[in-house]
Amino acid sequence: MTPVGNRDIRAAREYHDRTAHSYQSVRQSGHVLDWDTKPFLYKVYPDLPVTLLPREFPQPPQDTLEAMATFEGKGATLTLETLASLLFFTAGLTKKKTHPGGGEMHFRAAPSTGALYQTEVYVVAGELPALSAGVYHFSPGDFCLRRLRAGDFRGELGVAAVDERIPTAAATLVLTAIYWRNTWKYQARAYRHLFWDSGTMLANLLATAAGLGIPARLVTFFVDERINRLLALDAEKEVSLELVPLGTSAAPPPAADVSTEPITPRTIPLSSSEVEYPLVRYMHAVSSLVESDELRTVRPSHPGEPRSIPEHLVSLPGPLARAGRSLGETILGRGSTRQFSGQPISAEALSTVLFHATRGIPADFLPAPGRRLVDLYLIVNAVETIPSGAYCYWPEAHGVEMLASGDFRRQAGYLCLEQALGADAGVGIFFLAALGPILERLGNRGYRLANLEAGIIGGRCYLGAYAQGFGASGLTYYDGDVVRFFSPHARGKDALFVTVLGRSVKGVPGIEVPLQIAKP
Ligand SMILES: Cc1cc2nc3c(=O)[nH]c(=O)nc-3n(C[C@H](O)[C@H](O)[C@H](O)COP(=O)(O)O)c2cc1C
Repeated sequence: MTPVGNRDIRAAREYHDRTAHSYQSVRQSGHVLDWDTKPFLYKVYPDLPVTLLPREFPQPPQDTLEAMATFEGKGATLTLETLASLLFFTAGLTKKKTHPGGGEMHFRAAPSTGALYQTEVYVVAGELPALSAGVYHFSPGDFCLRRLRAGDFRGELGVAAVDERIPTAAATLVLTAIYWRNTWKYQARAYRHLFWDSGTMLANLLATAAGLGIPARLVTFFVDERINRLLALDAEKEVSLELVPLGTSAAPPPAADVSTEPITPRTIPLSSSEVEYPLVRYMHAVSSLVESDELRTVRPSHPGEPRSIPEHLVSLPGPLARAGRSLGETILGRGSTRQFSGQPISAEALSTVLFHATRGIPADFLPAPGRRLVDLYLIVNAVETIPSGAYCYWPEAHGVEMLASGDFRRQAGYLCLEQALGADAGVGIFFLAALGPILERLGNRGYRLANLEAGIIGGRCYLGAYAQGFGASGLTYYDGDVVRFFSPHARGKDALFVTVLGRSVKGVPGIEVPLQIAKP
C-alpha cells in the first residue's frame, strides 16, 4: 500500500470494498476473539496531575426533542460544572451491570460497537472558573481530568483547524479513537466504527450543549498531525477525529504561537499484546489533511443546489415537538434494545424520530442547514397505519417515497448480518450514501464524514426513540446486499450504517436488566 494523499480517492473506495461484509466473507473470516488480550476500556495516565470533576452538576433539563432540535446555544457560560455535565452525558460511565456468575460490564452514555468504547475525550481549555488553562484528558472511570499540558493552547487549535473562532471558544473538546480497542474484535472494519461511535457521542454532546444553553459546533477539517501532537498521541495507535468548540471565552484570545514541545506521558498498556491492522492506519493516513492550504480547498464554500423532491411522497403525521422526557433522563435510561417484541410503534412516533434526527448538524462539512451526505432508507416491519415495505425518507419534505410494499421482516433480519433484531424491530433505518460524488468533493476525508454523519443521525434516532418510550439499536449489515435490496433506487450508493427502532420485549426501554445507575 503506497501512501497517497486525500485527493487520491481510490484509497477510500479500496478500504470500503475490502472491509465490506458479505454472506461469504463472514463465514470465511476465521477471526476468533482472544479474550486474553481484550483491551482495557480506560486510558490511564498514572503520573499526571488530577483535577476532580464536580459530582454535582446540572442535568440537561430540556425536553429531549427540543434539545435535539436546538442549534444555537443561548450563550451560557462554560463552568467546571457544565463541563462536567457535558463530559458525563457524552462519554460518562452511566451504568454498571454485574453478570450472574461474576464480572462487571461498564456502560457509557452513548452506544458503542461491541461496548468497546475506543473513543477518548480531551479538553483544550482557556482559563475557566476553577480550571486553569491547559490540555486535559477526560477519565470517565474516576470522573476526573488529567493535565497533559499547562497553558493556553486554543490558539494552536485554531491554527491547526484554520478556524479563527476556536481561540475565542471557552474550551474545545477533541474526540480521538484508540484503534486497538475496536480492532481487537472488528479488525480492519473498525475504522468505520470510529466514526459511527464518535457520531453517537456527538449526538449526545450537541444536544446536551443545547440543553445547557452552551454554544457548540462540530469541526472536522484540521491538520491531523498538529492536533495529534498537541494531545501527545502515539498516532500509530490513537488519532484525533473531531473537535467541538464550546462556549465563548470572556478573556481575550490567546497567542497562536505557543510551542507544542513533544511530551511523552506514560500510559498503562491496554493489553499484554496488540495486533496491528495496517489497513486501518492506511485509511487514516490517506484521509488526513497535511497542510492548511489543502484544508481551505476541501472545506465546502457554497451551499450547492437543493435536491428535487419526487412527486407522490407519502406525508408522515406531524412530529411531536416534545416527548415529555428530559434529555438527562433519556440518556440515563438509554440502553441498546437486545430483543424487540415485534409489536408496532405508531406512525407519529416514527415521524417524530425521523424529523428530529435530520434537522441538520452544526458542522463545517455541511455547507448549509438541511444539506446532508447520507440518505435514509427504511424497511417498515410494524408501524401503525404505514404499510409494511421499503421506503426512502425525504427530510426536506418530511415524507416517504414507497419503493416496494410487502412484508420484508425476513430480509431485514438477513440484511442486518442475520441478526434477529433487524427482523423483530418495528422499522430499520439504513443509511446509504453516494460515496462517489462525496469523495470527489471532499477527498478521502469525505469517507470519514459520511460515516460520521450516519453515526450522528443514528445517535439521534436512539435519543428520539428512548425519549418516546421505545427502544433502538445500532446494527451492522451486509454491504452489497443492502444496496441491492434498495435498488434500483439506491444503485450507485453504498451502505454505511443501520439503526433499528421498536418495542422491547421488556417493555421499559433501557431498563432491560436491573442496572445500577453509576454515580460519577
Ligand atoms: C454503531 C453501532 C453499531 C452496533 N452494532 C450492533 C450489532 O450489530 N449488533 C448488536 O447486537 N448491537 C449492536 N450495537 C449495540 C452495541 O452493542 C451497544 O451499544 C453496546 O453494547 C453498549 O450498550 P448500550 O448501548 O446498551 O449502552 C451497535 C451500536 C452502535 C453504536
